[in-house]
Amino acid sequence: MDLRTAHRTAESLLADLPSRWAHSRRVLEQAQRLAPVLGADAEVLAVAAVLHDVGYASTAVDTGQHMIDGARHLSRLGVDPEVCSLVAFHSSSEWEAAELGLSAELAAFRRPSSELLDAITYCDLTSGPGGAAVDPVSRLDEVLQRYGPDHVVHRAVFAARPALLGMVERVEKRLTGCGQS
Ligand SMILES: [Fe+2]
Repeated sequence: MDLRTAHRTAESLLADLPSRWAHSRRVLEQAQRLAPVLGADAEVLAVAAVLHDVGYASTAVDTGQHMIDGARHLSRLGVDPEVCSLVAFHSSSEWEAAELGLSAELAAFRRPSSELLDAITYCDLTSGPGGAAVDPVSRLDEVLQRYGPDHVVHRAVFAARPALLGMVERVEKRLTGCGQS
């Protein structure tokens, strides 16, 4: 799926979720900023970025773990397996899947390269829930507050936080190395 089609697909799936769509557009912008460090992988990251949260769309919801649901939905649409893998594994997905007993469902998708997984997670964590650019530490704090301590997302994000911030840091270093930050 090319970027134009991915953009249209995400816009239509998220039509009832305007904040998620605004957030997804910002994630795409962040992905496009990473193009100089990604080279040939820039297109796959951009496509995955704009599609990364389609698992919240009512037509995609199945397990309730939005990364897995989005990846499954895209897989049914015939989207490139590499894009589906990035959607499946983005951000705190592995921790959420473990909390929910869905690790086997996640393992149906191939784990992306750490370079691309770092990249999509960086884009997600630097994009606020309404589409503003945000600092990743505040973004994770906002997620922890939005979902109370008993919620699976809170537990997963709390456990994942050090690893997620490490991913952000690796991408920032690469951007600095490329003279892009
Ligand atoms: Fe997101």
